[in-house]
Amino acid sequence: MASRHSIAVVLLALLAAHTVDAAARLVPSAAAAVAAELPAATPAPAAAAAAAAPAAPAIEVRHSVHPEALPSMGSKELRRHFLVDRLFAPGEVALTYTHEDRMIVGGATPLPGAPLALPSDRAIAKSIGRPTFLASRELAAINVGGPGRVVADGAAFDLAPLDALYVPMGTSAVKFESADKDRPAKFYLLSCPAHKQHAAAKISPRNATKVVTAGAGDTANNRTLYHLVAPGGIDSDQITFGVTFLADGSVWNTMPAHLHDRRSEIYMYFNMAPDTRVVHLMGEPDETRHILVANEQAVVSPSWSIHSGAGTAAYSFVWAMCGENRLMPDIEPVAMATLQ
Ligand SMILES: *[C@@H]1O[C@H](CO)[C@@H](O)[C@H](O)[C@H]1NC(C)=O
Ligand SMILES: *[C@@H]1O[C@H](CO)[C@@H](O)[C@H](O)[C@H]1NC(C)=O
Repeated sequence: MASRHSIAVVLLALLAAHTVDAAARLVPSAAAAVAAELPAATPAPAAAAAAAAPAAPAIEVRHSVHPEALPSMGSKELRRHFLVDRLFAPGEVALTYTHEDRMIVGGATPLPGAPLALPSDRAIAKSIGRPTFLASRELAAINVGGPGRVVADGAAFDLAPLDALYVPMGTSAVKFESADKDRPAKFYLLSCPAHKQHAAAKISPRNATKVVTAGAGDTANNRTLYHLVAPGGIDSDQITFGVTFLADGSVWNTMPAHLHDRRSEIYMYFNMAPDTRVVHLMGEPDETRHILVANEQAVVSPSWSIHSGAGTAAYSFVWAMCGENRLMPDIEPVAMATLQ
C-alpha cells in the first residue's frame, strides 16, 4: 500500500505541476442588544411548532474542562469532551464551538453542484453573539479533499488540494463549492475571535515561506512543518495554522512534548488509511491520558494539556492555535522525566 507520506508527496508534486442559548446568559441589557441584532426568527404556527421534532443543534458546544477533572475521565468522557469526530459530513457545514479560547472547528463538504454557505442563521448568531459568523471572528480553511472554491463576499478563491485560505473578520458571506464531481472538496475550518481586519489571502505548502524540518528517522519523528496562517506566513489576528507531514516510517509528532499556557491548540489528523490510528496523548505532563484518533478527526488541547501523538503509520495533521499571542517560541518544553 502506498504510504501516506508518499501520497502527500505525490499530491504536492502533482500540484507543483447541545446548542447553548448565549443570549440568555448575557446580562439583560446586553441580551436585548444582541437580540436586536439577530435576524428575526420565522414565527412557526403553534401547532406545527409543538409537533416539530427538536432541531439538530446548529453548532455543537464544548465547555472548558479543568485539568483536575481529567484523571477521573474514561474513554467515553475524554472523547465527548476533546475529540471532534464529525467534521466532513457530505453536503454539510459541521461546526463545533469549544470554549477553549473560543475556537470554532469544523468542516465544509459541499456536494458537486450544491454550494454550501458558512451559516449565519439565528441559531449560529445566538451561539456566537453576533449577527454574522465573521462579524468579530476570522477563519482559516485548508482543502483536504478534491479541488474546490471558496467565495468570500464575492471574491472567488480556487483551492486545489492542500491550498489554504485566510478569511478576515468582517466578511459577511462565505460560500464553499466542489469543482470535481467525483472528488468533493473538504474544507477544514478553524475560526477564532478577532479584533482587527487583515487581508484575505491564499497559501499552500507549495509556496509557504516558513518551512521547518524536525526530528529524524532514527527517532521515528522525521517531519516537515509548513507555517501557513502564522508568523512567517499569512497575517492574522489570533490564528496560527499550519500543516505537518510525517516521513515514511515516522510516527511521532511533538515528542518531547511541550505546553503553551497562553494558547489552546487543535490537531486534525488526516492522510490516514481507514485501519490506522493515532494514539494522541493529552493531559498535564504528570497525569496523561490517551485518545485513539482516526482519519479526519480533530482533538482539542486546552492550554494546560500536552498534545502529542504516535501513529500506527505515518500521517499528516493540521495544527491550529489561538490565544494571547502568536509567538511560536512562547512554549514550555516538557522534560521527558516529567511525563507520567
Ligand atoms: C501562493 O500561490 C497561490 C497560487 O497558487 C497564490 O494565489 C498565492 O497568492 C500565493 N501565496 C503566497 C503567500 O505566496
Ligand atoms: C527525513 O525524511 C526525508 C524523506 O524521506 C529524508 O530525505 C531525510 O533525510 C530524513 N531526515 C532525517 C533527519 O532523518
